[in-house]
Amino acid sequence: MTGEKIFIFDTTLRDGEQVPGCKLNTKEKIELAIALEDLGVDIIEAGFPISSPGDFESVSEISKIIKNATICALSRAVQKDIEAAGEALKHAKSGRIHTGIGTSDSHIKSKFNSNREEILERAVQAVKWASKYTDNIEFYAEDAGRTENEYLAKVVEAVIAAGATTVNIPDTTGYCLPHQYGEKIKFLIDNVKNVDKAVLSCHCHNDLGLATANSIAGAMNGARQIECTINGLGERAGNTSLEEVVMVMKQHPYVGIYTDIDATKLNPISRLVSDTMRMPVQPNKAIVGANAFSHSSGIHQDGFLKDAQTYEIIRPEEVGAETSKIVLTARSGRSALAYRLKNLGHNFDRNDVDVLYENFLQLADKLKEVRDEELQILANQHISSK
Ligand code: KIV
Ligand code: ZN
Repeated sequence: MTGEKIFIFDTTLRDGEQVPGCKLNTKEKIELAIALEDLGVDIIEAGFPISSPGDFESVSEISKIIKNATICALSRAVQKDIEAAGEALKHAKSGRIHTGIGTSDSHIKSKFNSNREEILERAVQAVKWASKYTDNIEFYAEDAGRTENEYLAKVVEAVIAAGATTVNIPDTTGYCLPHQYGEKIKFLIDNVKNVDKAVLSCHCHNDLGLATANSIAGAMNGARQIECTINGLGERAGNTSLEEVVMVMKQHPYVGIYTDIDATKLNPISRLVSDTMRMPVQPNKAIVGANAFSHSSGIHQDGFLKDAQTYEIIRPEEVGAETSKIVLTARSGRSALAYRLKNLGHNFDRNDVDVLYENFLQLADKLKEVRDEELQILANQHISSK
């Protein structure tokens, strides 16, 4: 692998689990943590221990089992949160405390009724509390996407000086445009004098559908960790999709960044998360949606059948998906019909396909999709009419 490694920080079990209806028990969290370790993620954010006894137990049990990924526990910049995180992680082979506070003026005034100086002190204090438990400390500057860059740089410098080894720059509200988020990361790289002592991390929400683009822009500008979730689950419109950022880096290797994720496990883990969290994946979802490798219009089907690369930039087996599908609808063409008939064992000549195609279109206009069962009946009727 050439270029620089991007650490994949998976937060399916924390930010993803915040989605209404996606709550997991300890057994389910352990099963998903094992699958995430197997996928090759570097850090698993296992939960928010102070939030409930169940989540404390989940972080603690996952810490005992997972050996090849760092286990991370979330906390606010509050002493009792940090103590709970430290306690829950005590069995981890490699544990990380993730603590932080809102740094945008909106958070400072509306959430904390405070001021910039006081928030800076609370940030530094939180890192110091965390350092009693571990030297693997990640600080998050919540709403960094809307935090003024000069102040953000001061906070980042102060928390690194206090011992933070990763600094998370969340676009909490999914507000930034990709060039703005990339410039924010570059500003920090250029203006924080001790930035070489820490990894900058992207944590982008998807309120404007830009989470993946923003995370990639951050990484291209010097961030070395991306926080993401399977199927893009997360608060509101979700978090950055793990499968998307991983495949963007794979498809564009010249950008010079890569991950250690085993892409062939992306579709299996997507299904596992969807089933366990009882949250269906939208069919048109990139990489893992049911239609990600389906071709339904005549023009596309014809091109695809001549050479798959005309309409596919990823082979389904690269991401552990089933083979590409030729779906028959009223927009499909003769070559797709002939292909599907051939798969059913029928080698009709061109004249036969022309006749069958007219019958097929009448049927397809009535149905959303013509499946093998209907196609077989059509073929049988044609054979017996000859
Ligand atoms: O979106 C966010 O800012 C978060 C933090 C708690 C990291 O999830
Ligand atoms: Zn978040």
